[in-house]
Amino acid sequence: TLQEEIPDGAAPNGSAQQLPQTIIIGVRKGGTRALLEMLSLHPDVAAAENEVHFFDWEEHYSQGLGWYLSQMPFSAPHQLTVEKTPAYFTSPKVPERVHSMNPAIRLLLILRDPSERVLSDYTQVFYNHVQKRKPYPSIEEFLVRDGRLNVDYKALNRSLYHLHMENWLRFFPLRRIHIVDGDRLIRDPFPEIQKVERFLRLSPQINASNFYFNKTKGFYCLRDGGRDRCLHESKGRAHPQVDPRLLNKLHEYFHEPNKKFFELVGRTFDWH
Ligand code: A3P
Repeated sequence: TLQEEIPDGAAPNGSAQQLPQTIIIGVRKGGTRALLEMLSLHPDVAAAENEVHFFDWEEHYSQGLGWYLSQMPFSAPHQLTVEKTPAYFTSPKVPERVHSMNPAIRLLLILRDPSERVLSDYTQVFYNHVQKRKPYPSIEEFLVRDGRLNVDYKALNRSLYHLHMENWLRFFPLRRIHIVDGDRLIRDPFPEIQKVERFLRLSPQINASNFYFNKTKGFYCLRDGGRDRCLHESKGRAHPQVDPRLLNKLHEYFHEPNKKFFELVGRTFDWH
């Protein structure tokens, strides 16, 4: 068994790896790392540090649940295990696969303004190129084609939340999917995290005092047992300045899809 492969003493007393009872399924650039770190403040939560990509990468999925389990942190029996892989939300095969593992699993989805998410998505790929000292086109080159909004730009599709949500709702009832408002999580994280605690039926143990606003970073950071820490510098980066007319086109593009999404989930969000 998996347990026997672990060298003696590697697992703290009584702890074991568990399949996740909850998964942060996305969305890419929605604030998934912030959500995972904030949820980890709870003593009854054990989080996988890295993105696992089990359900969306064939080379992982083909290795089966034993492999998935081996990626999980050691935890006590009363703890909830959580992993986050933002690509799950937009991968069509994933909902059915998650369902076949555990149809009663609770899912967390963090969303933010779809236009802002596109800019964040672009910024992420831009910096990946900068790191490798490779050139990368400006955002306009992706967003505009023949003087119109280029609807083939991949990042736009990832922000069509209703399309992806429909795939999930084919396998999970809405009450199993808690949507975290990523814009609110940025502005005032504590109330959003309290809602997550309730959804996961965790005792209310995360406090307002676990969060403090860091003026230099311009974001909330975490205070955990007297230890202060902010998210990595790659979280909370400035987005490119976009011509207001182009930005307007982006807002218009998402207007109808957003309405569809609101109907689908019976809830509205403060998006452009
Ligand atoms: P930006 O860097 O574009 O602002 P993900 O972890 O899913 O990649 O999401 C990254 C986003 O998390 C960041 O996007 C940032 O806006 C958001 N975020 C939310 N809370 C944050 C926090 N407390 N510190 C830093 N970034 C945070």
